[in-house]
Amino acid sequence: MRRLVIVANWKMNLTLSEAEVLATMIRNGVSHLRHIEIIICPPTAYLYSLSETISGRVEQLSLGAQNIYYEDEGAFTGETSAPMIKKIVRYSIIGHSERRRYLGEGIGFINQKIIACLRHQITPIICVGELKKERLSPQKIITELKELLDGVKKSDYQKLIVCYEPVWAISANKNSEPASPEYASEIIRMMRQQIGLSTPIIYGGSVDAKNIAGYCKYGDIDGALVGSASLKAKEFISLCERAVESKNLTS
Ligand code: PGA
Repeated sequence: MRRLVIVANWKMNLTLSEAEVLATMIRNGVSHLRHIEIIICPPTAYLYSLSETISGRVEQLSLGAQNIYYEDEGAFTGETSAPMIKKIVRYSIIGHSERRRYLGEGIGFINQKIIACLRHQITPIICVGELKKERLSPQKIITELKELLDGVKKSDYQKLIVCYEPVWAISANKNSEPASPEYASEIIRMMRQQIGLSTPIIYGGSVDAKNIAGYCKYGDIDGALVGSASLKAKEFISLCERAVESKNLTS
């Protein structure tokens, strides 16, 4: 059976002390849960400090980055490489639509980051999803994912996490609305079948404690990438609990 994965994407939010309080509350609040992998992705500047709070304390909780650069070192002002953080993170979000939109990241660039993650034993959480105007062209998403995986060995597919996150469903975007669980599960099933992925594929976009169960009850959806609802300890803990319950993993 594939793993249940919940990723908290804190984006560029919180002060360091707020982040430490939130991480501690989540750590304590999820320690009773089993059969779930919870990955907290804070801003890069907080990673080292939060690694003290999180790493190795609660088995089901780990730390991820929101981004890495694909080169290992060099004249790349402002960037952080995989070797710089690989001792403290096991995951990195790669190719989030906000980075594509505001920082101009394209397919080739994202592909190199995926390869850099794998080179350094960091699991990339690869984000892929369509714009509102592309909503009825699921084949485009599959083609894009294939391009993002160019040069990745089939045997390495098991080291990936893929996130189907339609851009129109992200809560920070105007007029956003969550994708229906049926729609998300259909796209995810297509990804699995057409690319041959047996690794976790999660859904992202306006997921909260109220709607998580609707997604998790679909066998094809292995969890969620959670933005705004991951900034509230109580809500996020309850979201994780409901995810476990709805997959019948409580024992
Ligand atoms: P949201 O963000 O849960 O606030 O929609 C998800 C994301 O962009 O990662």
